[in-house]
Amino acid sequence: MFYRRMPIEAESPEELGYSNIKYNLAESSVRDIDLREINVSKKILLCYGSHKGKDELRKLIAKEYFSENINNVLVTHGAASALFIIHTTLLNANDEIIVLHPNYATNLETPYAIGCKIKTVELKFENQFNLKAEDVISKITSKTKLVSLTNPHNPTGKVFNIHVLESIISYCTRKKIFVLVDETYKDIPFPNFTHHVLNDSPFLIRVSSLSKAYGVPGIRIGWIYCSNNSLIENFLSAKEQMVICNSVIDEEIAFQILKKKKTILNRVAKDISSNYNLLSKWLKEQNVFDFVFPDAGVVMMPRLKSSISTKKFYSVLLNKHKTYVAPGHCFQMSDHFFRLGFGWATAMEIKKGLAAIQKSASPFI
Ligand SMILES: Cc1ncc(COP(=O)(O)O)c(C=O)c1O
Repeated sequence: MFYRRMPIEAESPEELGYSNIKYNLAESSVRDIDLREINVSKKILLCYGSHKGKDELRKLIAKEYFSENINNVLVTHGAASALFIIHTTLLNANDEIIVLHPNYATNLETPYAIGCKIKTVELKFENQFNLKAEDVISKITSKTKLVSLTNPHNPTGKVFNIHVLESIISYCTRKKIFVLVDETYKDIPFPNFTHHVLNDSPFLIRVSSLSKAYGVPGIRIGWIYCSNNSLIENFLSAKEQMVICNSVIDEEIAFQILKKKKTILNRVAKDISSNYNLLSKWLKEQNVFDFVFPDAGVVMMPRLKSSISTKKFYSVLLNKHKTYVAPGHCFQMSDHFFRLGFGWATAMEIKKGLAAIQKSASPFI
């Protein structure tokens, strides 16, 4: 019998229909931008592109990691396909992977589909979603092939202690175990946050994309950065079997965006800071959920007070108030948790959406 293990994202706002949602607090990116903001009115030959990705684009990406070597970079279709390429290249059914939970689905679902043993490290609300090196290292066995970390973390908005990350990476390097760090949220300009570029290792594989911070998830441009060039060659052969190359148009747009990185992120910083001010003021005043403040990114994972009926909450929130958040079950968690996104909505939408959350969680409705 045909068995589909990977879930369809039927509850994502784009699949539910953006027009059915007025106050969209489910998004995990900043506001999308219009193509007219980017200068791409040049001649582009619509040929197959370079399989590793456009050289000038890879040069700008390498710079992000203080490197001049474009061979350390493989351009991919968003971070999502980078993760798929890494998992399918490195993992076999008899391997073990250690991965954080909750997480972005692909980080869990691709290893599940491969059939390898998955050992999750649970990030617990009671521990402020913190990670200790020991949580990961104690799970390593001779079968561990890959350790998978996401930082800044989705859905909690947590940034893990840099010494914890570095000690996991150096332990794994000594043991010849690969470490994947999904840094898709690294460039989002969150107040008082500076992304720390990790020390390099031939076992360290970094993934990121333009989707979240630059408001261009529609061009599907992400990348893998790894200084182990033979590993990049293996990832390239997986990419070629899947898609050959990226769209030359998308790559040109991505190149123009990274060239204007500072200007774009300065504008994004203003929006995020004003949205976050509204959110943090409201967080301190509300009485419907417990929460851990996010450290970076544009998402957080509050927990509704246990007395609140979750079924009623989500139904009133969407059907009456046209407000949407991502319920806990999307992350294999209790529906008392939900992911709240504060980067995509306008200031007015944030205010109205937060007021709707307060009303929908009231026991008197
Ligand atoms: C942690 C994480 N990694 C990867 C992705 C995929 O992003 P994209 O493929 O749009 O670059 C997402 C999207 O939500 C994410 O949250």
